[in-house]
Amino acid sequence: MIVALDGPAGSGKSTTARRVAERLGWLYLDTGAMYRAVGVAFRDRGLPFTAAAARDLLPALDVRLRPAPDRTRVALDGVDVTDRIRTAQAAEDASRVSKLAPVREAMVALQRTVARETDAGGVVAEGRDVGTVVFPDADVKFFLVADLDARARRRLADFAASDAGGAGSGGDPAAFEKVRAEIAERDRRDESRALAPLRPAPDARRLDTTALSVEDQVDEVLRAVRDR
Ligand code: DC
Repeated sequence: MIVALDGPAGSGKSTTARRVAERLGWLYLDTGAMYRAVGVAFRDRGLPFTAAAARDLLPALDVRLRPAPDRTRVALDGVDVTDRIRTAQAAEDASRVSKLAPVREAMVALQRTVARETDAGGVVAEGRDVGTVVFPDADVKFFLVADLDARARRRLADFAASDAGGAGSGGDPAAFEKVRAEIAERDRRDESRALAPLRPAPDARRLDTTALSVEDQVDEVLRAVRDR
């Protein structure tokens, strides 16, 4: 059984997907973490964000995800990059590399392999194109949305909690504006790209999380799973 949760940055998909997977004892698959890891690899090597560079880099690149209770651990060629993929820079770079066809082909193949090989009874996968491209036959699909302000507030709170973003602390209006602008720009890029753009699958249920608690979101998805 596959549950697909897609939506823009800060819509609540990661928290919801992780908790739903926990409750069901299923595999949590964070597809964004893969694009973030590839972005880190590009930056470390000083590569231009081009398809040609991706074609050279990817065959030898080893991206591994290991689900952990708090968050997915990610290794790049055997080196743990879990903290490094969560910075604002890594989010930007992920969005840039995710436009490239060789990157998408390799990551989609990896996502399908991980799902096929798991021993868990099901998979809860989150991203931008999970319900449209990666698992078009997913049993349950949601498209999460939330107001831009709410999403920027959540992202700032994440940064404050992990201390990874360098975006400043929660009460700083300049930091808020910066994060808000970064998210808007990333949405625009993810929605307007030619390949697997961020968009709801025709059969996805839309869930507006602006005023919902995490528990409400989790319950909504669990209800849909049980109804199947
Ligand atoms: O969900 P996230 O913030 O970790 O995703 C980082 C970037 O990766 C996002 O801006 C676009 C890209 N991405 C994608 O293109 N397809 C996915 N399925 C997941 C993420």
